[in-house]
Amino acid sequence: MDNRTDQDVVDVLTAQHQQISTLIEQIRGDHDDKQQLFNELVRLLAVHESAEEEVVHPAAKRAAFGVEDMVKTRLGEENRAKQHLADLYDMGVEHPEFAARFARFADAVADHAAHEEAEEFTMLRKQFSETQLQRMAESVRFAESVAPTRPHPRAGESAVANVLVGPPFALFDRIRDALRDRGEDTHA
Ligand SMILES: [Fe+2]
Ligand SMILES: [Fe+2]
Repeated sequence: MDNRTDQDVVDVLTAQHQQISTLIEQIRGDHDDKQQLFNELVRLLAVHESAEEEVVHPAAKRAAFGVEDMVKTRLGEENRAKQHLADLYDMGVEHPEFAARFARFADAVADHAAHEEAEEFTMLRKQFSETQLQRMAESVRFAESVAPTRPHPRAGESAVANVLVGPPFALFDRIRDALRDRGEDTHA
């Protein structure tokens, strides 16, 4: 069987943080396929943040007292990032101001991820059983299965599937709705 099923939700989310950070660095670099890389970033952030919003943050809130403020802060950052991402999408990677605005976005995303890893993820491992953490990992993988594109396995290192992802908000909403339709069994 797929050994990814051994991973718990913290493994999966932390690996996604790493993928997000790598994509951001590539987009900030001098790549010819900047638009495709940006599309892939939109897809990955939509998967990742939607799963956190629908599954991980609610579980964190249920699991421990006194984390409401932390979760509220993270949700606020996620909402701002979503808006920022939509603005960048509308602007387009060729816009003269894209690089400067993308740099500010990148800093905010890195800061957000660092806070999640240091506070929320540490807390999840303390509060939940291995089975519960693996069940949450399944929800993240489900969110990924809803997103419309995967990098083509034979496309080579720098090439990403050339798929139109559409406006970021539509993709975030689609993944959120699918997670909600999946229902209560996503809850640890
Ligand atoms: Fe997040
Ligand atoms: Fe995250």
